[in-house]
Amino acid sequence: MSDIAPTRVLEKAGASVLVYSTAELACQAAADRLAETLKTAVATRGRAVLGLATGSTPEPIYAQLVAKHRAGELSFAQAVSYNLDEYYPISPLDPNSYRAYMHQHLFRHVDLPAHQAHVLDGTVPEFATAEHAAQFDRWISEDGGFDLQLLGIGRNGHIGFNEPADLPLEKALALPTRLVELDSVTRADAVKQFGDASHVLHRALTVGVAQILAARSILIVALGTNKAPAVGLSLNGPMTSNVPASLLQAAPGKVTWMIDEAAASEI
Ligand code: PGA
Repeated sequence: MSDIAPTRVLEKAGASVLVYSTAELACQAAADRLAETLKTAVATRGRAVLGLATGSTPEPIYAQLVAKHRAGELSFAQAVSYNLDEYYPISPLDPNSYRAYMHQHLFRHVDLPAHQAHVLDGTVPEFATAEHAAQFDRWISEDGGFDLQLLGIGRNGHIGFNEPADLPLEKALALPTRLVELDSVTRADAVKQFGDASHVLHRALTVGVAQILAARSILIVALGTNKAPAVGLSLNGPMTSNVPASLLQAAPGKVTWMIDEAAASEI
């Protein structure tokens, strides 16, 4: 268990919602949860399968994990990781790629063997993206599925790059890993990363909703007032493909939200 105590704990929409006084504490608690899950899975099954996220939210979480590794408290040698998404088309060497992000924030600092760290490949030719995505789903399943899927949430409620859409619920819950068009809100939020709106890519590969929901545990982290409306809709509102994080309600008992007070203001 983490030593970091939430200020409030709510049970909402089948999920545990842990509210922390600051973003820093929420990220420390998230890193503790990830580290505990990794260690328990390695102790019981000999390996841990982790679904990892990118974006600004997980950066301090990875910094905490790197610190634990440097302190000799955490090894990734028996971990297998799969990243949630990657821009398309993009080279892994492009500093805007999520492969580069993972290298910078986690992979180069820890003992996770390179062949155990998977990121969707933004260089596959377009005709091969469906097969590449299907293969990613097969690899995750063959590895036994995720012990933990780490998620952020977009201002539009997206998880991974599963963007808001008008879909029957049954279809939304079954979405596979695939090539997608990015929503205008997502592209607007990516300008800070790409430097200029005209440089922001319009497409991405994303792990699908079905694979996320199949994880044995899901940890979603949301920080700041700009995430509050999406958090509120995801937890108070109905399950709908228009708010992709609300689809986590289909996995009762498996989802933990770790959020700061600012992000909790519309629950
Ligand atoms: P952010 O993105 O952490 O950069 O806010 C979260 C997300 O889009 O999932």
